[in-house]
Amino acid sequence: MYRLLVIGQEGQVGQAIKDRIQDQCWDVLFTDIDTLDITNAQQVENVFKSFRPDLVINASGYTDVDRAEYDAVVAESVNAYGPYLLALQCHNLGALLIHFSTEYIFDGHNHNAYLEADRPAPLNVYGRTKLQGEQYIKTYLSRYIIIRTSWVFSEYGQNFVTTMLLLSRKNAPIRVVNDQVGCPTYAGDLANLVVDIAKDYQAATGRYRFGDYNFCSDGDNDRYSGVSWFDFACAIFEELDKYQSGEQGRNLIGVTSVEYASIATRPKNGILNCHKISPIFRPSDWRCKLRHVIAITMA
Ligand SMILES: NC(=O)c1ccc[n+]([C@@H]2O[C@H](COP(=O)([O-])OP(=O)(O)OC[C@H]3O[C@@H](n4cnc5c(N)ncnc54)[C@H](OP(=O)(O)O)[C@@H]3O)[C@@H](O)[C@H]2O)c1
Repeated sequence: MYRLLVIGQEGQVGQAIKDRIQDQCWDVLFTDIDTLDITNAQQVENVFKSFRPDLVINASGYTDVDRAEYDAVVAESVNAYGPYLLALQCHNLGALLIHFSTEYIFDGHNHNAYLEADRPAPLNVYGRTKLQGEQYIKTYLSRYIIIRTSWVFSEYGQNFVTTMLLLSRKNAPIRVVNDQVGCPTYAGDLANLVVDIAKDYQAATGRYRFGDYNFCSDGDNDRYSGVSWFDFACAIFEELDKYQSGEQGRNLIGVTSVEYASIATRPKNGILNCHKISPIFRPSDWRCKLRHVIAITMA
């Protein structure tokens, strides 16, 4: 039977994958840090030797962008050394590795949306360590698919949408950055994409070639103009107003990155151009998925 190893099952992308992969006739092993710590070489080797996966989906990561600035050793271990160990084991078994990366590998100085081949130049520790992870995979493995994505939200765990919902319950001003643009991405879309890649790989239909793909939930907008975090927050509160009276968004205040002063520097432009993947797997519209997530959360 076709064997899939899913790493990082407790994360928002991991949970979305788990929800969507259950009905496939595959032998799937779901792990997280308590059962497979990707920075533990012996544990990684043991799991690969006993399970012998055909395909590995790495949905794990050190994703706290600000904390990474003063926790760089751990961030590098999870985002770079872990993928290195996975690449070595996938190479030994001839398995395909699907790995997630980020728009934070870019410095945001481009005027246009970023293409897969654009030159990376990360501004922060998270972006640097994610880029190192990509580089290890590309050095030690030929069968890989790296999905670069951005601003992931979902009904699971903590993300920008759930944070805004929490803040909406406090009657205090909510300051949101208005000079960084990017594209929100629904975790369920990423999960549907990896399931489609897994099916394609099993059937050897060759729709997906090995390499890098940008992917964000910008299906209805081929202009790739993106939105700011402030625009995203306004969309969340607009949706929330359908469930609660009282104009939840009235406390929103747009501020510049300088005024917000977060620990990590973030790219001003984090928009990913998804032209390469669109003909194979059409991304959906994040606004439609936002509606879905808020409906679930408010139910
Ligand atoms: N979230 C975004 O906006 C975003 C944007 C672009 C790219 N990505 C990438 O997409 C992937 C999934 O993101 P996500 O938002 O689903 O992340 P997430 O919710 O933070 O989940 C990451 C999971 O990885 C686990 N993990 C941490 N260290 C580990 C280790 N050493 N071994 C095994 N598992 C470990 C975490 O466990 P603990 O919670 O116990 O630490 C958590 O369950 C990541 O590679 C991330 O870099 C995310």
